[in-house]
Formats: sequence, C-alpha cells, structure tokens
Amino acid sequence: MRVAKRVERLPPYLFAELDRRVAAKRAAGADVISLGVGDPDLPTPRHVVEALQEAAEDPSTHQYASYYGLPALRLAIAEWYGLRFGVDLDPESEVLPLIGLKEGLAHMPWAFIDPGDRALVPDPGYPVYATATALAGGEPVSMPLSPENRFLPELDGLSPPERTKLLWLNYPSNPTGAVADLGFFEQAVAFSRRYELLLCHDAAYCEITFDGYVAPSVLEVPAAKEVAVEFGSLSKTYNMTGWRVGYVVGNAGAVQILATLKTNLDSGIFNAIQRAAVAALTGPQDHVESMRAIYQKRRDVVVAAFHDVGLPIEPPLGSIYVWVPTPPGRTSAQFSEELLEEASVVVSPGTGYGPHGEGFVRISLTVPDERLEEAMGRIRGHLR
Ligand SMILES: Cc1ncc(COP(=O)(O)O)c(C=O)c1O
Repeated sequence: MRVAKRVERLPPYLFAELDRRVAAKRAAGADVISLGVGDPDLPTPRHVVEALQEAAEDPSTHQYASYYGLPALRLAIAEWYGLRFGVDLDPESEVLPLIGLKEGLAHMPWAFIDPGDRALVPDPGYPVYATATALAGGEPVSMPLSPENRFLPELDGLSPPERTKLLWLNYPSNPTGAVADLGFFEQAVAFSRRYELLLCHDAAYCEITFDGYVAPSVLEVPAAKEVAVEFGSLSKTYNMTGWRVGYVVGNAGAVQILATLKTNLDSGIFNAIQRAAVAALTGPQDHVESMRAIYQKRRDVVVAAFHDVGLPIEPPLGSIYVWVPTPPGRTSAQFSEELLEEASVVVSPGTGYGPHGEGFVRISLTVPDERLEEAMGRIRGHLR
C-alpha cells in the first residue's frame, strides 16, 4: 500500500499520544475526567428530537436529499439570519446547508485553492482551516494570535504573500474564547476587498456568549457579501453535534461554487434531519438562554479555580472553552501530561491548535457541573 503524499504530509495527530495515555490510565482503574473534546453534554431540545421522529416515519424522507438542501431549511436559515442579525439573505442563492460546518470548511479549499495558493489561518485556531488547505495542495499562512492582540490578527500590519486567496476567521474563537466586534469585522472586510481575498468566517459559537455579550455576524458589515461567506452550525447552539447539520451563507458566487463542488462529493443531509433542523431554527429558543447560563457558570468555576492558585485568567466572553496559560516552567504538552498523570484530568495542549498555542491549554466546558467541579478541585489540589 502506498499512501498519498498529501496524507503523509498531514501534521502528526498531537492528541494521539494523549489518547493512548488516557486509555492506559482508564484501563488501570483511574477515574479520568476529560475536558479535552468540545462535545456538549446537554441533550438536543425535545421538540427537535420529536420533529426527527415524525419526519423519519415519512418514507419520502428516506430517499436522496437535494444537493442544495430542502427549500424549507434554506428559508429557515435565511429567516433566522434576518431575526438574529438583521441580515437579508436570498434563500435560493445565498444559503447552502452543509453536512456539518466542518464538512464545508474541509471542502472550501477544493473549490478555491489551487496547488501553490495560500490561505491565511488563525494560529492558534481550529485545525481544519490549515489541514484542509494543505490537503488541497495549498499553503496555510499563520496569523499569530496572542493575549497582547486580544487574539485578533493584526490586519493593519499584514500584507498577504502573493497567491493568497482565503482569509479564515473564527469568533467567538475555538480555542481561545476570544470575541470580535463589528469594528474588527469592518476592518477584515476592507482588508479582504483590498487584497481580493474571500473572507471565510466560522461562526460556530455565535450563540454561546456570556455576560450579556451578543456576537455580531460578519455579514452585518455593509456590502460584506461582496467578499465574505459565513459558516454556521446547529451543533453547539442546539446540542446537535452528532446530527451533522450546518450551513454557509453570504456571497452567492462562493456559495454556488461550493454547491457545485459538493454535487460531485456527497448527496445532501438526511431529509428527516433537515426537517428537524427547521424545527430547531424556527421553534422555541428558550433553551439557548439556559444553555448560556450553564456554560457561564462552568466558565466561572474554571476561572475561579485558576485564580485561586495564582493563575488569573480573563473570563472569555464566548465559546465553550477556557484558554488557560500554563504555569511558569511548563510547556503545553508538559502541563497537559502532568494534569493527566497527577490529577487524572484531560486538557488539550495548546500546540494542537498551532505553534502559537504554546504556553496554553484548552479546557472544555462540556461536562456535567459536578464533574467539572471535581476536575477543578483536583487541579487546584495539584497546583497548590
Ligand atoms: C470552530 C469550529 N468550527 C466548526 C466546528 C465543527 O462544527 P460541526 O459540528 O457543525 O461540523 C467546530 C467543532 O468543534 C469548531 O470548534
């Protein structure tokens, strides 16, 4: 068997060694608490599950779905954008359902990156922007993010190398929890126009925000649609990670090109799931508010624990993560290994999100409150 070069060139899976150690510790009887993966422990709202049950009973949902998604879902996404952001979208040409947001991210470079082209990617950032670019033969160009720049790329001082086609952004951010205001998005739209880039904003966490903060859409910037698309997902807003339903909206040309590519690769989302997604987007939204309150309380538990041991953290305003600086003298990998060995708690080493993640670990807030409190008690005990 000879593996394709593009796969061989993928960066080593940094979490593989950690996974191996977790398995070994569990096999030895340790009660390991994983704060590694960002997968909500809360259930999908009841009315959405019921909508799926009902739709699955209808045999017409059992056939291939349309490549372009159910008209009802495209309309529901467009209407949700209107209500939530005051952004008008044409459901026919400016909205495309995806088999999860990650599917769309992974396919974008195949539509826009030729071998040798470049994409600007946040570092640290969700790894798919860089790996998908590399798989398509492109070169990811890292935009270093740090507490000094509030984890926002310094676009003023940045001049993209030639053949840069895409600019990836993600706010509220995985892994840093940082948020971007409309002023930053205005700057990013102007930057994209100036350098003829397609701005791709990943808004996976736009509904998970704290302390009353409301995240803007990049499409709120006037004329943003000329240069931007925005990706969204039902995964985190409605606790539907396993269902695989997301969308891309914005620039009609870009949306259509991605759709054309996808007609060659997949066959649409299960229609029953699309009907359930309509129920999620158009039905009662009260669970979103209670979910925010749950994550905010968990965020405060994590921030307080590190504060207690002399590691102050500015509480993040969004996402389901806390980005924690490592104590002096430890690398990200060392600190995460130490927490696993000494406290049986799994956290993600920051370098899993790019070289500029060094000096941090990511803590996910997606475990039940009592488990999170137990984990923080152990970390506190260990660091004291
Ligand atoms: C920034 C970001 N984008 C996209 C995704 C994936 O979303 P989906 O479940 O819709 O594929 C994640 C999941 O962790 C994420 O953190």
